[in-house]
Amino acid sequence: MEFKNLKIEKDGLTAVVTIDRPTALNALDGETMMELIHAMSELEADDGVGAVVLTGAGKAFAAGADIAELSKMDGMQAREAAKLGQKAFSTIENLNKPVIAAVNGYALGGGLEAAMACDIRIASTRAKMGQPEVTLGATPGFGGTQRLPRLIGFGRAKEILLTGDPIDAATALSYGLVNKVVEPDELLGAAKEMAEKIASRGPAAIALVKSCVNKGAGTDVETGGALEADAFGICFGIGDAREGIEAFFEKRDPSWLRKRK
Ligand code: CAA
Repeated sequence: MEFKNLKIEKDGLTAVVTIDRPTALNALDGETMMELIHAMSELEADDGVGAVVLTGAGKAFAAGADIAELSKMDGMQAREAAKLGQKAFSTIENLNKPVIAAVNGYALGGGLEAAMACDIRIASTRAKMGQPEVTLGATPGFGGTQRLPRLIGFGRAKEILLTGDPIDAATALSYGLVNKVVEPDELLGAAKEMAEKIASRGPAAIALVKSCVNKGAGTDVETGGALEADAFGICFGIGDAREGIEAFFEKRDPSWLRKRK
């Protein structure tokens, strides 16, 4: 499928999805949200793709929801727009493959909310991240009030959400908002390297680890542990764990990797 505001390139087992709306610093309008949902569904179904990198073209990852589009909305329309954004980012969060955000520049409002729906965030030294919605008289709408405190704790999250001030990459690293910070020209390489490594692991195990972490986060350790025991059983039931263990002893690649090469 062709997309207007997204570019998709495959490299090895990794698909790089680039948000590309240069005139609006990659702001996420309704059309781009729909495209993200469709792109993720396609990539989920593509057996040749083991991991996804999400990034932005130019100086922004994404400068937020599209303010021009928002400016024309009444209350009900804004609510529906928030629901669409939340659906798009849930699609990223629940994808059965890892999604790594390569945060190349401004990740503000909906842009940071998109990055937070990804499993791992790598930032360039040029990245600026924040939730400036309150400066516009609005709350975040695409999950920012929920994912940010879960990632970095209530105090720091509330400072970012209530002041609307952006933080730089070094601060984001010290808060645990991003996993690592690299030079701008190393960003895509670093994200792809991590994506390829994860894509070489057992595909079912990767999907199940994501699901256990995401679904277990809202529960107690016992309930989450039950999810984990089920996942562990599934890995053996479908044969992946047996194959992985045999490959270890026979000092060869596991079959899922040979199939993809
Ligand atoms: N939506 C629509 N257009 C946007 C945009 C956005 N979020 N952000 C930037 N643009 C447009 C600008 O209007 C400008 O267009 P023109 O050239 O036609 O004037 C163009 O992109 C370039 O932007 P700037 O000239 O402002 O670029 P800059 O380098 O001087 O500043 C910036 C960069 C600091 C990111 C600044 O553009 C900015 O503050 N953008 C808005 C950020 C923001 O408030 N995001 C939150 C949006 S609300 C949201 O996301 C709600 C939600 O959770 C649901």
